[in-house]
Amino acid sequence: STRFFALNTGAKIPSLGLGTWQADPGVVGNAVIAAVKVGYRHIDCARIYGNEKEVGQALKELFEDGTVRREDLFITSKIWCSDLAAEDVPGALQSSLDDLQLDYLDLYLIHWPCRLKKGSGLSGEAVVPLDINSTWKTMERLYDEGKARAIGVSNFSCKKLEDVLVIARVPPAVNQVECHPCWQQRKLRTVCKARNVHLSGYSPLGSPGTAWISSSAVLRNPAVKTVAEKLGRSPAQVALRWGVQMGHSVLPKTTKEARLRENMDIFDWSIPEELFAKLEEIEQVRLIRGDLLVHEGGVYSSVEELWDGEI
Ligand code: A2P
Repeated sequence: STRFFALNTGAKIPSLGLGTWQADPGVVGNAVIAAVKVGYRHIDCARIYGNEKEVGQALKELFEDGTVRREDLFITSKIWCSDLAAEDVPGALQSSLDDLQLDYLDLYLIHWPCRLKKGSGLSGEAVVPLDINSTWKTMERLYDEGKARAIGVSNFSCKKLEDVLVIARVPPAVNQVECHPCWQQRKLRTVCKARNVHLSGYSPLGSPGTAWISSSAVLRNPAVKTVAEKLGRSPAQVALRWGVQMGHSVLPKTTKEARLRENMDIFDWSIPEELFAKLEEIEQVRLIRGDLLVHEGGVYSSVEELWDGEI
C-alpha cells in the first residue's frame, strides 16, 4: 500500500506526516491532537521550530487518554546547525527527547549540511566547516543506543549525500528535502533510489503561507490546477498525491482541522498516467534556496556551492 514506505532500517515510515514548521506555540498542540485523532501517525518536528515542548504536551495527552500508543506513532526531529560539533550531538537529541517527552525518536535528521558557530543566528558569516565524519559517527552511536531508531539527513545534495554514504557504518535512512510538482528533485530521486535512501518531501504544497516564498508556486500552478479540476480534487490533494505516487513521504503543514482531513484524503484514488505526465512538464524552481547560509568568502560562497549545482 502507499500508506507506508519501507526504510533501509526495516522500519516503516507513514507516507503522510504532519509538518510543524511555523505552527505557532499555542496552536501546534491542538493541531497535533486533531491530526492524530483524524488518523495522522507521523509528526515532523525540529529543534529550531521552537515548539517541541508543546508538541510533547500534546503527545502526552494523546497517550494518556488512550487515543494512540507510542509505538503506533512515527516522530521525527532534526538537530540544528549550531549543535553539530560531535560533542554537542547527544545533548541536542536529549533536549528534543525531553521536550517531546519521549524516550526515543523514530527518525533524527541533520537539519542542514551546515554548521553554525555556537550561539550564532542563521547567517552565512557564522557558518563553520562541518566535519561530517565525526558528526555522523555520533549520530550512529545514538542509533546504536536506540535513542534514534533511524538517522538521516535533510537538505543534502546528491554529492553531500554520497559523502555521508561513503563514510557511514549506518547509512542515512532518509534525506528530507524540498519536494513538490514544481521542484521534483529528479536527480536526487535517482540517487536515493539507487542507494536505498528514502526521500521525504517538505513544503509539499510550496509553503504558500511563508512571506518570502511565492505563494503561487504550487497550489496556483496551472498544470496542478488542471489536474485537480479533472479529478475533482483540490490542488493541495493533487500535489500531495503526486508525492506519494512518486514514492516520497509528504509532510504538509496545517493547523486547520478541515485541511488536516483534506490533506489526508489522498489514498483511495490516484493520478492517472496521462495527467501525471502533465505534471512532469512543469517548469522547475527551488523555492527554499538557503541564501541565508551563503556568504562571499565563507564555507558556502554561493547557493550553487550549497547545493552542488542542483539549483
Ligand atoms: P494553514 O496552516 O493556515 O492551513 P507546506 O506544507 O508546503 O509548508 O504548506 C503549508 C502552508 O499551506 C500553510 O500556510 C497552510 O496554511 C497551507 N495549507 C495547508 N493545507 C492546505 C490546503 N489543503 N489548501 C490550501 N492551503 C493549505
